[in-house]
Amino acid sequence: MDVIVADDRAALDAARGELGGGRLALVPTMGALHEGHRSLIRLAREHADHVVVSIFVNPLQFAPNEDFSRYPRTFDADLDACAAEGVSVVFAPAAEDMYLPDRQVTISAGTMGAIVEGAFRPGHFDGVLTVVNKLFNLVRPDVAAFGRKDAQQLAVIRRMVLDLNLPIEILGGETVREPDGLALSSRNRYLSAGDRVAALTLSRALREGAARRNAADIRRAALAVLEGAAHADPPLALDYLALVDPLTFAEVPDDHAGPAVLAVAARVGDTRLIDNIDDIVVGTVVGAGGSGVA
Ligand code: PAF
Repeated sequence: MDVIVADDRAALDAARGELGGGRLALVPTMGALHEGHRSLIRLAREHADHVVVSIFVNPLQFAPNEDFSRYPRTFDADLDACAAEGVSVVFAPAAEDMYLPDRQVTISAGTMGAIVEGAFRPGHFDGVLTVVNKLFNLVRPDVAAFGRKDAQQLAVIRRMVLDLNLPIEILGGETVREPDGLALSSRNRYLSAGDRVAALTLSRALREGAARRNAADIRRAALAVLEGAAHADPPLALDYLALVDPLTFAEVPDDHAGPAVLAVAARVGDTRLIDNIDDIVVGTVVGAGGSGVA
């Protein structure tokens, strides 16, 4: 069956009708699909009869100084990727169809949305939760898949589902990486060859950190790599390195024992990149973990 393209809510409802029942999965995206998205689609397909992929560059989650206008838009290629992965419906609404000009109510990610990544991108997670909640209401999926590369996003979405009693199962898809360790991201296409070398420092720092046993050593080892890269050409400008609780994203203390996420964000030139290893168990040597760090 060909992919049905629904570009407004009425078309989405009609497309849902055409599917004729069964379990429905949603993979929310902002387009510029890469292998990471494709692996999410495949994960979603394992849990449902039909997959809906939404493609919507959500203005609410970008600050005025961020890259909303230059965010890559590659609709035709995205459609081909969805067809190749057996997607049933692509929902690609216009901004006017998603947001009323006089809209009032949004979702707040609370304290969790204001720390770590949220401290550098105020309002970002509120924008993400607002659009994800709207997509849940419009598509009405049984299950939805999000990438573990955006670890804090996944954590706040899980928290929203818990706090608001949303009847949707949330799946986290493994981070997909280039053979050299660089996590796939729609923003990687902005990187020059030199930038790309600097960008590799993120996964290297995470790996160095994750090979240590206690929280202080994990932070120290990762920071040593990042500090070296700050003086390279081109330099890596670190926003944060954080070792956090996987559920709350609060920093864990130096004497922590148990699960943790080591998350990093940095800028190379005009490009901001994030990465993490989300399966660290502090107190245990884990090395390169199941999040796929090469
Ligand atoms: O991860 C993304 O691409 C976006 O934040 C999402 C979940 C599609 C919401 O706009």
